[in-house]
Amino acid sequence: MGGFFSSAELQLVKQPQITVPRCGSCGLDKLCNSPKIKTIGRGKRKVLIVGEAPGKDEDNEGAPFVGISGQYLRNALVEIGIDPEGDCWITNAVICRPHTDKDKNRTPTDKEVQYCRPNLFNDIARLQPNVVIVLGAVAVQSLIGGIWKEEASEAIGKWVGWQIPNHKPNMWICPSWHPSYLLRSNGDPVLARCFKQHLENAFTLKEKPWKESPPDYKKKVKVVVEPEKAAEIIYEIIRKKPKLAAFDYETTTLKPDGPKSEIDCCSISDGEITVAYPWYGPTIKATEEFLFDKEIGKIAANMKFESRWTMKQFGKKIRNLVWDTMIAAHVLDNRSGICGLKFQSYVLLGQPSYDDHISPFLRSVKQGCNEVNRVKEIGLKQRLLYCGLDSLLEITIARIQMKKMGISYE
Ligand code: URA
Repeated sequence: MGGFFSSAELQLVKQPQITVPRCGSCGLDKLCNSPKIKTIGRGKRKVLIVGEAPGKDEDNEGAPFVGISGQYLRNALVEIGIDPEGDCWITNAVICRPHTDKDKNRTPTDKEVQYCRPNLFNDIARLQPNVVIVLGAVAVQSLIGGIWKEEASEAIGKWVGWQIPNHKPNMWICPSWHPSYLLRSNGDPVLARCFKQHLENAFTLKEKPWKESPPDYKKKVKVVVEPEKAAEIIYEIIRKKPKLAAFDYETTTLKPDGPKSEIDCCSISDGEITVAYPWYGPTIKATEEFLFDKEIGKIAANMKFESRWTMKQFGKKIRNLVWDTMIAAHVLDNRSGICGLKFQSYVLLGQPSYDDHISPFLRSVKQGCNEVNRVKEIGLKQRLLYCGLDSLLEITIARIQMKKMGISYE
């Protein structure tokens, strides 16, 4: 650490959201017949549909989704009782046609998507949709990449079907496949049915996800740097005997067996009280009492991590470990790449990304489970806040998962 701020804190200063489209940089407008195709529709149901980019037909007619993909989409909407242009607004992530030659459409590049993104966000600000249906990886990359994480487009398969209660803007985001994928799948009936179901589900959402403002989970975390004070709060939680409480460690190595392996900090949340504290002095004893309390059901995200560190630290197993949000996520939906806490926090709670500035510091520079990471380079309050958020989101997600499975511990 050097100077006034740690390097992680400096990275907290996010780039401002660009609101001016960079059409001059992309140049697609000069290469097509219908530059900057306008969003169409009257949007009576306040649903905005976002595709990838205009193709040849759209470029000729100057309107989105009028070619064969558009026909597929429009038919699907009509079949579920929706008037495409009366009930919806329709646009694309990139509003000029990308093409290699006059007949060949091509997928827009990442840069083209980024340069055009402000057009989409300006439309959202103007139209104030309750729901945005994003079709295909490019539309996901444009919208979710601009809100949550740039790498959002990685795999469309993990996004389809969620109804994400996005915080800012306050709106539902409902991803599905692009209609051209369904056309290429030769009428696969399962895909076609799922696609229609995704659309239908999106139209059941009649209002914005948040009546007033979305929850600010950060404000609910008590960051307590003084070990005595933190220990008092841990004992307060133990005395309350909540049926469930989540806990989370941050550590200097992935596995606890290296010479420099140590727990750096910990957090506990029963959903009402969330406390994050350094692993120091009386907090260690208080945490031990919490972990071995037989009445409080413990929740973790990836319990083998917390179990192994606990075993190393205290030489015994956690008592009454009842829930692992990662395993539960997998039981509910067996797609790969969806079980992590950050992804679940976004798709279930709309929680904006909170680890971008932290995650590079949690990876060790050298490969290896006992190689030391740079967690201690993050300012103490920042790493406690991050750790506390993890516990609070774990218990919040666990409760949603239990409800979905019809399981009750409380
Ligand atoms: N595909 C899209 O993504 N958008 C259109 O407008 C047409 C085809």
